[in-house]
Amino acid sequence: MSARINRRDFVVTGAAAGISLAIPSKGESQAPAVITRGEFRPLVIASGNGNRFKNGGTQTAVEKAFSMITGGSDVLDAVVAGVNIVELDPLDYSVGYGGLPNAEGVVQLDSCVMHGPRKRAGGVCALEGVRTPASVAKEVANQTDHHLLAGKGAQDFARGLGFTIEADLNTETSRRLWLEWKRRVDPSHYLDPKDRAAFEEKVRREMVAEGLIESDHVYGTINCDGINAKGEICGVTTTSGLSWKIPGRVGDSPILGAGLYVDNDVGAAGSTGRGEANLYSCASYVIVDNMRKGMHPKDAMVDMCKRVTRNTIEKRLLNSRGLPNFDMSYYAIDKQGRYAGVSFYDNGSYAICNENGAQTFKMDPVYPGKSSD
Ligand code: GLY
Repeated sequence: MSARINRRDFVVTGAAAGISLAIPSKGESQAPAVITRGEFRPLVIASGNGNRFKNGGTQTAVEKAFSMITGGSDVLDAVVAGVNIVELDPLDYSVGYGGLPNAEGVVQLDSCVMHGPRKRAGGVCALEGVRTPASVAKEVANQTDHHLLAGKGAQDFARGLGFTIEADLNTETSRRLWLEWKRRVDPSHYLDPKDRAAFEEKVRREMVAEGLIESDHVYGTINCDGINAKGEICGVTTTSGLSWKIPGRVGDSPILGAGLYVDNDVGAAGSTGRGEANLYSCASYVIVDNMRKGMHPKDAMVDMCKRVTRNTIEKRLLNSRGLPNFDMSYYAIDKQGRYAGVSFYDNGSYAICNENGAQTFKMDPVYPGKSSD
Protein backbone atom coordinates (compact mmCIF):
# COMPACT_ATOMS: atom_id res chain seq x y z
CA MET A 1 0.00 0.00 0.00
CA SER A 2 1.59 3.23 -1.09
CA ALA A 3 -0.06 5.69 1.28
CA ARG A 4 0.10 4.07 4.67
CA ILE A 5 -1.11 6.49 7.31
CA ASN A 6 0.10 6.69 10.84
CA ARG A 7 -2.62 6.25 13.47
CA ARG A 8 -1.61 9.56 15.03
CA ASP A 9 -2.66 11.31 11.84
CA PHE A 10 -6.23 10.68 12.81
CA VAL A 11 -8.39 12.19 15.41
CA VAL A 12 -10.09 9.44 17.33
CA THR A 13 -13.69 9.18 16.24
CA GLY A 14 -16.61 9.40 18.57
CA ALA A 15 -17.64 11.80 21.27
CA ALA A 16 -14.08 12.05 22.64
CA ALA A 17 -13.01 13.66 19.37
CA GLY A 18 -15.52 16.41 19.76
CA ILE A 19 -17.84 15.06 17.15
CA SER A 20 -21.34 16.32 17.48
CA LEU A 21 -23.82 13.48 17.45
CA ALA A 22 -27.48 13.76 16.61
CA ILE A 23 -29.84 13.21 19.53
CA PRO A 24 -31.52 9.83 19.24
CA SER A 25 -35.26 9.91 19.01
CA LYS A 26 -37.27 8.74 21.99
CA GLY A 27 -37.05 5.03 22.57
CA GLU A 28 -33.78 4.49 20.67
CA SER A 29 -31.29 3.00 23.06
CA GLN A 30 -28.35 2.52 20.68
CA ALA A 31 -25.69 5.12 19.97
CA PRO A 32 -26.81 7.55 17.30
CA ALA A 33 -24.96 7.28 14.00
CA VAL A 34 -25.49 10.71 12.48
CA ILE A 35 -22.46 12.92 12.85
CA THR A 36 -22.71 16.54 11.90
CA ARG A 37 -19.07 17.69 12.05
CA GLY A 38 -15.60 16.53 13.05
CA GLU A 39 -12.71 14.59 11.59
CA PHE A 40 -12.86 11.05 10.44
CA ARG A 41 -10.78 7.96 10.00
CA PRO A 42 -10.36 7.10 6.30
CA LEU A 43 -11.50 3.61 5.44
CA VAL A 44 -12.43 1.56 2.41
CA ILE A 45 -14.58 -1.56 2.49
CA ALA A 46 -15.33 -3.96 -0.36
CA SER A 47 -16.52 -7.44 -1.14
CA GLY A 48 -13.74 -10.04 -0.88
CA ASN A 49 -12.68 -9.67 -4.52
CA GLY A 50 -11.73 -6.09 -3.61
CA ASN A 51 -8.60 -7.48 -1.94
CA ARG A 52 -7.90 -10.40 -4.27
CA PHE A 53 -7.26 -9.10 -7.79
CA LYS A 54 -4.48 -6.76 -8.96
CA ASN A 55 -4.78 -7.02 -12.77
CA GLY A 56 -1.01 -7.47 -12.98
CA GLY A 57 -0.34 -4.35 -10.90
CA THR A 58 0.73 -3.89 -7.31
CA GLN A 59 -2.49 -2.85 -5.59
CA THR A 60 -5.86 -4.42 -4.94
CA ALA A 61 -9.05 -2.37 -5.23
CA VAL A 62 -9.19 -1.44 -1.54
CA GLU A 63 -5.49 -0.52 -1.48
CA LYS A 64 -5.83 1.65 -4.57
CA ALA A 65 -8.95 3.39 -3.26
CA PHE A 66 -7.42 3.96 0.17
CA SER A 67 -4.15 5.33 -1.21
CA MET A 68 -6.06 7.73 -3.46
CA ILE A 69 -8.37 8.84 -0.62
CA THR A 70 -5.50 9.53 1.73
CA GLY A 71 -3.65 11.22 -1.13
CA GLY A 72 -6.46 13.73 -1.40
CA SER A 73 -8.47 12.37 -4.33
CA ASP A 74 -12.22 12.62 -4.45
CA VAL A 75 -13.64 9.55 -2.66
CA LEU A 76 -15.78 8.53 -5.65
CA ASP A 77 -12.82 8.79 -8.03
CA ALA A 78 -10.90 6.60 -5.57
CA VAL A 79 -13.45 3.80 -5.15
CA VAL A 80 -14.15 3.72 -8.90
CA ALA A 81 -10.40 3.51 -9.65
CA GLY A 82 -10.31 0.66 -7.13
CA VAL A 83 -13.08 -1.40 -8.72
CA ASN A 84 -11.65 -0.65 -12.20
CA ILE A 85 -8.78 -2.97 -11.23
CA VAL A 86 -11.23 -5.83 -10.70
CA GLU A 87 -13.32 -4.94 -13.75
CA LEU A 88 -10.21 -5.08 -15.94
CA ASP A 89 -8.71 -8.22 -14.40
CA PRO A 90 -9.58 -11.21 -16.61
CA LEU A 91 -9.14 -13.51 -13.60
CA ASP A 92 -12.31 -12.17 -11.95
CA TYR A 93 -15.15 -13.55 -14.05
CA SER A 94 -17.88 -11.76 -12.08
CA VAL A 95 -17.25 -8.17 -13.09
CA GLY A 96 -16.37 -6.11 -16.16
CA TYR A 97 -14.07 -7.62 -18.80
CA GLY A 98 -14.44 -11.40 -18.74
CA GLY A 99 -17.57 -11.32 -16.55
CA LEU A 100 -19.80 -14.35 -17.08
CA PRO A 101 -22.02 -13.61 -20.09
CA ASN A 102 -25.79 -13.85 -20.52
CA ALA A 103 -27.63 -16.83 -21.99
CA GLU A 104 -26.66 -15.77 -25.51
CA GLY A 105 -22.97 -15.54 -24.60
CA VAL A 106 -22.91 -11.74 -24.49
CA VAL A 107 -21.31 -9.93 -21.53
CA GLN A 108 -23.79 -7.32 -20.26
CA LEU A 109 -22.65 -5.14 -17.39
CA ASP A 110 -24.43 -3.10 -14.67
CA SER A 111 -23.05 -0.52 -12.29
CA CYS A 112 -23.98 2.46 -10.21
CA VAL A 113 -22.11 5.05 -8.18
CA MET A 114 -23.20 7.47 -5.50
CA HIS A 115 -21.43 10.60 -4.32
CA GLY A 116 -22.37 11.35 -0.72
CA PRO A 117 -21.38 15.03 -0.43
CA ARG A 118 -22.72 15.96 -3.85
CA LYS A 119 -25.86 13.89 -3.37
CA ARG A 120 -25.56 12.72 -6.97
CA ALA A 121 -25.57 9.28 -8.49
CA GLY A 122 -25.30 7.60 -11.87
CA GLY A 123 -25.82 4.14 -13.28
CA VAL A 124 -25.65 1.99 -16.38
CA CYS A 125 -27.28 -1.35 -17.04
CA ALA A 126 -27.14 -4.00 -19.75
CA LEU A 127 -24.09 -2.19 -21.09
CA GLU A 128 -22.11 -4.13 -23.69
CA GLY A 129 -18.59 -3.59 -24.98
CA VAL A 130 -17.09 -1.38 -22.24
CA ARG A 131 -14.72 -3.05 -19.79
CA THR A 132 -15.26 -0.53 -17.00
CA PRO A 133 -18.99 0.13 -16.47
CA ALA A 134 -18.27 1.83 -13.12
CA SER A 135 -16.41 4.60 -14.95
CA VAL A 136 -19.34 5.06 -17.33
CA ALA A 137 -21.75 5.16 -14.34
CA LYS A 138 -19.57 7.89 -12.83
CA GLU A 139 -19.83 9.91 -16.04
CA VAL A 140 -23.63 9.52 -16.04
CA ALA A 141 -23.54 11.21 -12.62
CA ASN A 142 -21.00 13.83 -13.72
CA GLN A 143 -22.24 14.68 -17.18
CA THR A 144 -26.00 14.20 -17.23
CA ASP A 145 -29.12 15.11 -15.36
CA HIS A 146 -30.15 11.44 -15.27
CA HIS A 147 -29.42 8.48 -13.10
CA LEU A 148 -29.67 5.38 -15.26
CA LEU A 149 -28.77 4.71 -18.91
CA ALA A 150 -29.55 1.29 -20.38
CA GLY A 151 -28.33 -0.94 -23.20
CA LYS A 152 -27.45 0.71 -26.48
CA GLY A 153 -28.13 4.17 -25.06
CA ALA A 154 -25.54 3.56 -22.35
CA GLN A 155 -23.07 2.27 -24.94
CA ASP A 156 -23.64 5.25 -27.26
CA PHE A 157 -23.13 7.57 -24.28
CA ALA A 158 -19.85 5.81 -23.45
CA ARG A 159 -18.70 5.93 -27.08
CA GLY A 160 -19.44 9.64 -27.18
CA LEU A 161 -17.17 10.17 -24.18
CA GLY A 162 -14.32 8.29 -25.81
CA PHE A 163 -14.65 4.93 -24.03
CA THR A 164 -13.36 2.08 -26.18
CA ILE A 165 -16.24 -0.12 -27.37
CA GLU A 166 -15.26 -3.73 -27.95
CA ALA A 167 -17.17 -6.31 -29.94
CA ASP A 168 -16.83 -8.96 -27.24
CA LEU A 169 -15.82 -8.78 -23.57
CA ASN A 170 -15.54 -12.54 -23.12
CA THR A 171 -12.26 -14.04 -22.07
CA GLU A 172 -11.24 -17.64 -22.72
CA THR A 173 -12.51 -18.54 -19.23
CA SER A 174 -15.91 -16.84 -19.46
CA ARG A 175 -16.51 -18.32 -22.94
CA ARG A 176 -15.48 -21.81 -21.83
CA LEU A 177 -17.84 -21.65 -18.83
CA TRP A 178 -20.70 -20.35 -21.00
CA LEU A 179 -20.17 -23.14 -23.52
CA GLU A 180 -20.23 -25.67 -20.69
CA TRP A 181 -23.54 -24.20 -19.43
CA LYS A 182 -24.96 -24.19 -22.96
CA ARG A 183 -23.97 -27.80 -23.44
CA ARG A 184 -25.85 -28.75 -20.26
CA VAL A 185 -29.06 -26.81 -20.89
CA ASP A 186 -30.00 -27.52 -24.46
CA PRO A 187 -33.27 -25.59 -24.37
CA SER A 188 -34.93 -27.75 -27.01
CA HIS A 189 -35.35 -30.43 -24.32
CA TYR A 190 -37.21 -28.10 -21.96
CA LEU A 191 -40.38 -26.80 -23.45
CA ASP A 192 -42.03 -25.75 -20.20
CA PRO A 193 -40.44 -22.41 -19.14
CA LYS A 194 -40.94 -23.32 -15.46
CA ASP A 195 -39.03 -26.57 -15.87
CA ARG A 196 -36.38 -24.81 -17.88
CA ALA A 197 -35.84 -22.17 -15.17
CA ALA A 198 -35.57 -24.87 -12.51
CA PHE A 199 -33.18 -26.84 -14.69
CA GLU A 200 -30.99 -23.82 -15.39
CA GLU A 201 -30.74 -23.18 -11.65
CA LYS A 202 -29.91 -26.84 -11.02
CA VAL A 203 -27.14 -26.69 -13.63
CA ARG A 204 -25.74 -23.50 -12.06
CA ARG A 205 -25.64 -25.23 -8.68
CA GLU A 206 -24.03 -28.35 -10.15
CA MET A 207 -21.33 -26.23 -11.72
CA VAL A 208 -20.71 -24.55 -8.36
CA ALA A 209 -20.64 -27.94 -6.57
CA GLU A 210 -18.15 -29.24 -9.14
CA GLY A 211 -15.89 -26.25 -8.47
CA LEU A 212 -16.28 -24.81 -11.98
CA ILE A 213 -17.66 -21.52 -10.61
CA GLU A 214 -17.13 -19.99 -7.19
CA SER A 215 -20.48 -19.67 -5.40
CA ASP A 216 -20.09 -15.92 -4.92
CA HIS A 217 -19.45 -15.53 -8.66
CA VAL A 218 -22.87 -16.85 -9.70
CA TYR A 219 -24.21 -13.33 -9.22
CA GLY A 220 -20.73 -11.78 -9.35
CA THR A 221 -20.36 -8.18 -8.31
CA ILE A 222 -17.98 -5.94 -6.40
CA ASN A 223 -19.17 -3.24 -4.05
CA CYS A 224 -16.66 -0.72 -2.70
CA ASP A 225 -17.36 2.20 -0.34
CA GLY A 226 -14.98 4.72 1.18
CA ILE A 227 -14.78 7.58 3.63
CA ASN A 228 -12.07 10.22 3.81
CA ALA A 229 -10.74 12.31 6.69
CA LYS A 230 -13.38 14.96 6.01
CA GLY A 231 -16.11 12.38 6.46
CA GLU A 232 -17.02 12.36 2.77
CA ILE A 233 -18.55 9.04 1.80
CA CYS A 234 -18.96 7.53 -1.68
CA GLY A 235 -19.67 4.10 -3.08
CA VAL A 236 -19.75 2.01 -6.22
CA THR A 237 -21.18 -1.36 -7.18
CA THR A 238 -20.34 -3.06 -10.46
CA THR A 239 -21.18 -6.48 -11.88
CA SER A 240 -21.66 -8.74 -14.86
CA GLY A 241 -24.85 -9.81 -13.09
CA LEU A 242 -26.38 -13.25 -12.86
CA SER A 243 -24.40 -15.71 -14.93
CA TRP A 244 -26.25 -16.76 -18.09
CA LYS A 245 -29.15 -14.45 -17.41
CA ILE A 246 -31.90 -13.76 -19.92
CA PRO A 247 -30.46 -11.03 -22.18
CA GLY A 248 -31.50 -7.67 -20.82
CA ARG A 249 -31.99 -8.92 -17.26
CA VAL A 250 -30.81 -6.24 -14.83
CA GLY A 251 -30.23 -6.96 -11.15
CA ASP A 252 -29.79 -4.79 -8.10
CA SER A 253 -26.30 -3.45 -8.79
CA PRO A 254 -27.19 -0.38 -10.89
CA ILE A 255 -30.31 0.42 -8.88
CA LEU A 256 -29.92 2.99 -6.13
CA GLY A 257 -31.20 1.76 -2.80
CA ALA A 258 -30.86 -1.88 -3.86
CA GLY A 259 -27.22 -2.63 -4.80
CA LEU A 260 -25.84 0.59 -3.32
CA TYR A 261 -26.86 3.50 -1.16
CA VAL A 262 -24.89 6.34 0.37
CA ASP A 263 -26.01 9.02 2.79
CA ASN A 264 -23.15 11.34 3.59
CA ASP A 265 -24.52 12.01 7.09
CA VAL A 266 -24.82 8.33 7.93
CA GLY A 267 -22.78 5.85 5.89
CA ALA A 268 -22.81 3.56 2.88
CA ALA A 269 -24.06 0.08 2.14
CA GLY A 270 -23.79 -2.25 -0.82
CA SER A 271 -24.54 -5.82 -1.67
CA THR A 272 -23.66 -8.86 -3.71
CA GLY A 273 -25.83 -11.90 -4.30
CA ARG A 274 -29.30 -12.55 -5.72
CA GLY A 275 -30.28 -9.16 -7.08
CA GLU A 276 -33.99 -9.92 -7.33
CA ALA A 277 -34.21 -10.50 -3.56
CA ASN A 278 -32.43 -7.24 -2.94
CA LEU A 279 -34.65 -5.29 -5.30
CA TYR A 280 -37.77 -6.52 -3.53
CA SER A 281 -36.42 -5.22 -0.23
CA CYS A 282 -34.45 -2.08 -1.26
CA ALA A 283 -31.73 -3.55 0.90
CA SER A 284 -28.95 -0.97 0.73
CA TYR A 285 -31.33 1.88 1.45
CA VAL A 286 -32.81 0.04 4.42
CA ILE A 287 -29.35 -0.75 5.83
CA VAL A 288 -28.35 2.92 5.65
CA ASP A 289 -31.66 3.87 7.21
CA ASN A 290 -31.09 1.35 10.00
CA MET A 291 -27.70 2.96 10.66
CA ARG A 292 -29.39 6.37 10.67
CA LYS A 293 -31.57 5.07 13.49
CA GLY A 294 -28.46 4.25 15.47
CA MET A 295 -27.75 0.63 14.59
CA HIS A 296 -24.18 -0.60 14.25
CA PRO A 297 -23.50 -1.57 10.59
CA LYS A 298 -23.49 -5.23 11.57
CA ASP A 299 -26.89 -5.05 13.30
CA ALA A 300 -28.26 -3.00 10.40
CA MET A 301 -27.28 -5.77 7.98
CA VAL A 302 -28.44 -8.65 10.20
CA ASP A 303 -31.83 -6.93 10.32
CA MET A 304 -31.74 -6.70 6.52
CA CYS A 305 -30.95 -10.39 6.13
CA LYS A 306 -33.95 -11.23 8.29
CA ARG A 307 -36.13 -8.86 6.30
CA VAL A 308 -35.09 -10.44 2.98
CA THR A 309 -35.75 -13.85 4.54
CA ARG A 310 -39.28 -12.77 5.53
CA ASN A 311 -39.82 -11.52 1.96
CA THR A 312 -38.72 -14.86 0.50
CA ILE A 313 -41.85 -17.00 0.45
CA GLU A 314 -41.76 -18.87 -2.85
CA LYS A 315 -41.09 -22.56 -2.28
CA ARG A 316 -38.57 -22.76 -5.15
CA LEU A 317 -36.42 -20.24 -3.25
CA LEU A 318 -36.47 -22.04 0.10
CA ASN A 319 -34.27 -24.84 1.40
CA SER A 320 -35.39 -27.75 3.57
CA ARG A 321 -35.15 -25.51 6.67
CA GLY A 322 -37.51 -22.94 5.15
CA LEU A 323 -34.64 -20.44 4.76
CA PRO A 324 -33.53 -18.84 1.45
CA ASN A 325 -31.70 -21.32 -0.77
CA PHE A 326 -29.48 -18.51 -2.07
CA ASP A 327 -26.98 -16.26 -0.34
CA MET A 328 -26.87 -12.49 0.07
CA SER A 329 -23.88 -10.51 1.28
CA TYR A 330 -23.93 -6.96 2.58
CA TYR A 331 -21.09 -4.52 3.26
CA ALA A 332 -21.46 -1.28 5.20
CA ILE A 333 -19.51 1.52 6.81
CA ASP A 334 -20.85 4.29 8.96
CA LYS A 335 -19.64 7.80 9.55
CA GLN A 336 -17.87 6.69 12.72
CA GLY A 337 -15.69 4.33 10.70
CA ARG A 338 -17.47 1.24 11.98
CA TYR A 339 -17.85 -1.49 9.38
CA ALA A 340 -18.96 -5.06 8.86
CA GLY A 341 -19.74 -7.68 6.23
CA VAL A 342 -22.79 -9.85 6.84
CA SER A 343 -24.17 -12.72 4.77
CA PHE A 344 -26.99 -15.22 5.14
CA TYR A 345 -24.59 -18.14 5.37
CA ASP A 346 -20.94 -18.82 6.16
CA ASN A 347 -19.74 -17.95 2.68
CA GLY A 348 -17.33 -15.49 1.14
CA SER A 349 -15.36 -12.62 2.53
CA TYR A 350 -15.07 -8.87 2.66
CA ALA A 351 -12.07 -6.58 2.63
CA ILE A 352 -11.14 -3.32 4.21
CA CYS A 353 -8.20 -0.98 3.94
CA ASN A 354 -7.31 1.56 6.61
CA GLU A 355 -4.10 2.96 8.12
CA ASN A 356 -3.09 -0.60 9.05
CA GLY A 357 -3.24 -1.80 5.44
CA ALA A 358 -5.61 -4.13 3.62
CA GLN A 359 -7.23 -7.06 5.38
CA THR A 360 -9.73 -9.70 4.35
CA PHE A 361 -12.29 -11.05 6.83
CA LYS A 362 -14.83 -13.85 6.71
CA MET A 363 -18.39 -12.64 6.38
CA ASP A 364 -20.48 -12.74 9.56
CA PRO A 365 -23.19 -15.31 8.84
CA VAL A 366 -26.74 -14.90 10.15
CA TYR A 367 -27.78 -18.52 9.69
CA PRO A 368 -25.82 -21.73 10.38
CA GLY A 369 -24.99 -24.18 7.61
CA LYS A 370 -25.22 -23.59 3.89
CA SER A 371 -27.90 -22.23 1.57
CA SER A 372 -28.40 -25.77 0.22
CA ASP A 373 -28.94 -27.40 3.66
N1 GLY B 1 -26.13 -8.75 -7.41
C1 GLY B 1 -25.87 -8.83 -8.77
C2 GLY B 1 -27.03 -9.19 -9.60
O1 GLY B 1 -27.96 -9.82 -9.12
O2 GLY B 1 -27.01 -8.87 -10.78
